[in-house]
Amino acid sequence: MPLLKVNGKQVEVNERVSIAAMLMNLGLAARKSVGGEMRGPLCGMGICFECRVTVDGVAHVRGCQLMVREGMEMWTDEG
Ligand code: FES
Repeated sequence: MPLLKVNGKQVEVNERVSIAAMLMNLGLAARKSVGGEMRGPLCGMGICFECRVTVDGVAHVRGCQLMVREGMEMWTDEG
């Protein structure tokens, strides 16, 4: 099982899942709306952009389009 960091905390996650699915399994939202509401994956296929997170320093990565891998570091708006 890959080890990675989410919001500065080391977590062990399932293999072969998307970042969006992993965040849902951890009970985390991906981002905040301009009104401050927590948001998470909606479409799961790269269209809605509600799953955006920062991955390895790259902002606005769509979590539903990228699989988890060992050593990744990501930040959500909850972090
Ligand atoms: S869930 Fe819609 S773009 Fe990722």
